[in-house]
Amino acid sequence: MKGLILSGGKGTRLRPLTYTSAKQLVPVANKPVLFYGIESLVSAGIREIGIVVGDTHAEIEAAVGDGSRFGAKVTYIPQDAPRGLAHAVSIAEPFLRGSRFVMYLGDNLLQRGINTLVEEYLRLGVDCEILLTRVPNPSSFGVAELDAGGRVVRLVEKPKEPRSDLALVGVYLFNDSVFDAVKAIQPSPRGELEITDAIQWLVDHGRSVHAHLVSGWWKDTGKADDMLEANRTVLDGLDNHAGTPTVDAASRVEGKVFFEGPPGSVVLVDSVVRGPVIIGEGSRIERSFVGPYTAIAAGCRLHRVEIENSIVWEGSTLENVRLRISDSLIGRGVVIRRDPERKPKAHRFLVGDNSEIGIGE
Ligand code: DAU
Repeated sequence: MKGLILSGGKGTRLRPLTYTSAKQLVPVANKPVLFYGIESLVSAGIREIGIVVGDTHAEIEAAVGDGSRFGAKVTYIPQDAPRGLAHAVSIAEPFLRGSRFVMYLGDNLLQRGINTLVEEYLRLGVDCEILLTRVPNPSSFGVAELDAGGRVVRLVEKPKEPRSDLALVGVYLFNDSVFDAVKAIQPSPRGELEITDAIQWLVDHGRSVHAHLVSGWWKDTGKADDMLEANRTVLDGLDNHAGTPTVDAASRVEGKVFFEGPPGSVVLVDSVVRGPVIIGEGSRIERSFVGPYTAIAAGCRLHRVEIENSIVWEGSTLENVRLRISDSLIGRGVVIRRDPERKPKAHRFLVGDNSEIGIGE
């Protein structure tokens, strides 16, 4: 089997954190979402992976490379514009034809991986397998309608009046029959060639489409709460703790805490870290509290702050903040610092477009 990961799309999506980077590289527990997809494929025994890339190709290629660090061989498939998921499949046909394949949307994350799905697909010998999950807001997704026997009857992309709460998850298994489908369909009202329509074509033309219900799925919708939830889920799922920080006698590490980088590269001084937490290489935590469900990326500096349930990207500095920082997403190279000597006594902000600041006192 081969893998096809969709990591195209426009470069300017998802308010402010992804103005400057691809949404598939948003970190969850200090790892880009895209990497979870690659690792899931490799873990299911799939090593030949095509990645569809668009505007942000340079950044994706810099992060993933030739795939060897994942034990995979990656082929990049450029897409001129985001013309739809089915369009991505059609341009990948020369890479895929002749093998069954898993298509994995690069902004999706499946907590339990795809091993059992791949086994099931091969065992059933069907043409296509789709994954469904119950959601409270089906209008934001492709929606499936099943009959009493659980067979797929109808699939509609982002219906205004959804006929069920079963959303299509961004992982699909196909054989060559999908290429007939993507050639036969027309662009949708939003101007894209929809994979949902291609699967409907398979159903209408008597091909076998099996629906599998999953739980533990996350999709990057660009909302802070979704990212924090994904971060919590992944941190909860990591087993045990790992890595060795440099710790002074006044510091305490409690619960599952992951220290990245070579031994000693994370430094704790007079601080308490209470897991589940992950801290990236070279970060220094001084006179601070890092509470549950926090991911601090590499090269950050925390001094006299308390933080919990938050994500901090690389190279940021948090200093002297009086109230605890909670439920926050802090981008790359950000500085948040309280300076009691500052004149005039005022908050000073240098904040990009669509940022959000919540002042708690
Ligand atoms: O996440 C699940 C949903 O994904 C499904 O429920 C929908 O049925 C399916 O159409 C898709 O919906 P979205 O509209 O949310 O897809 P999005 O535009 O976010 O694209 C998903 C991924 O595919 C993303 O990583 C960007 C990439 N992509 C997208 C398009 C349209 C491409 O590589 N090329 C494209 O042309």
